[in-house]
Amino acid sequence: MLDKLKELEDEAKNKIEGVSDLEELKTLKVRYLGKKGELTRLLRSLGSVPAEDRPVIGKKANALREELERVIELREQSLQDEQRQEKWEKERIDVTLPGWPATVGQRHPLTMIIDEIKEIFTGLGFQLAYGPDIETDYYNFEALNIPADHPARDMQDSFYITDEFLLRTHTSPVQIRSMERQAPKLPVRIICLGKVYRRDDDATHSPMFHQCEGLVVDTDITFADLKGTLDLFAREMFGPEQRVRFRPSFFPFTEPSAEVDISCIMCSGKGCRTCSYTGWLEILGSGMVHPRVLEVSGYNPREVTGFAFGMGIERIAMLKYGIGDLRLFFSNDLRFLKQFS
Ligand code: DAH
Repeated sequence: MLDKLKELEDEAKNKIEGVSDLEELKTLKVRYLGKKGELTRLLRSLGSVPAEDRPVIGKKANALREELERVIELREQSLQDEQRQEKWEKERIDVTLPGWPATVGQRHPLTMIIDEIKEIFTGLGFQLAYGPDIETDYYNFEALNIPADHPARDMQDSFYITDEFLLRTHTSPVQIRSMERQAPKLPVRIICLGKVYRRDDDATHSPMFHQCEGLVVDTDITFADLKGTLDLFAREMFGPEQRVRFRPSFFPFTEPSAEVDISCIMCSGKGCRTCSYTGWLEILGSGMVHPRVLEVSGYNPREVTGFAFGMGIERIAMLKYGIGDLRLFFSNDLRFLKQFS
């Protein structure tokens, strides 16, 4: 019996030492120490051993059981260590490899122009004003002196939602909304930058684009104030050499009205393809606020006067950055957008 125990010990230890993974080790554990395992069976057969030998053999067998349990546990630990090591080797991080560069976002070129315009006018004491993109016929046309049958409506063909509601075709309705909000308090001095919508789509027109509207109402506002303000704006925006030119024009909500040109940025006024050899580029519409517009908005045209202007922001950006196609602003092409960082 003692020989058998010794034999079992040698064999078991050998096998345990030789296993290469945890699964195998488990099988061995069952094979020797399990309920039907070899050592367990040997212990059960102790009954057939002469009574006087039983204590010695029993003790040996139990000691062997403990010994095997210990050896198995040790082996298990070292196998686990090996496995962990292997995993680490496979997943090892090479801290010397170059990393992914963190990409930092940037403002859209139109946002840059919008911010710049805001800065120029808030610096002059203008306040930011807002209005809804979905406008009523009244604010978009009627209150601006453009009645239902007025031909000026044709120039601003829009997207109608119902007969009464449409996507605003310009930011001018914000003039009315701003005056209504604060009438009869003076002065009114606002700019509104926002989206407008028209049924247009080509290299210089988009169905959605941006405008900046300006309005000043106070006692004794004259055309000279309008000229001074826009002259300063042009020089702040395009450089100190910029000159502006006022051409007589017509808008139903201003009287008199003027279109404003800046000297051509490409040729400094000498004449080139960009300015069609005129030396001038049109950038906005403007004028003295029509008495009827003041009146419907809560101001007395015999007591106050005002000037207003409206410009396309894409146009300003195209001129400032020399961009030929307006659609580039909205095509999300990073090769284009990254040039403005
Ligand atoms: N709302 C006009 C347009 O979109 C532009 C404009 C012209 C605005 C004259 C004004 C103005 O405030 O006085 O064509």
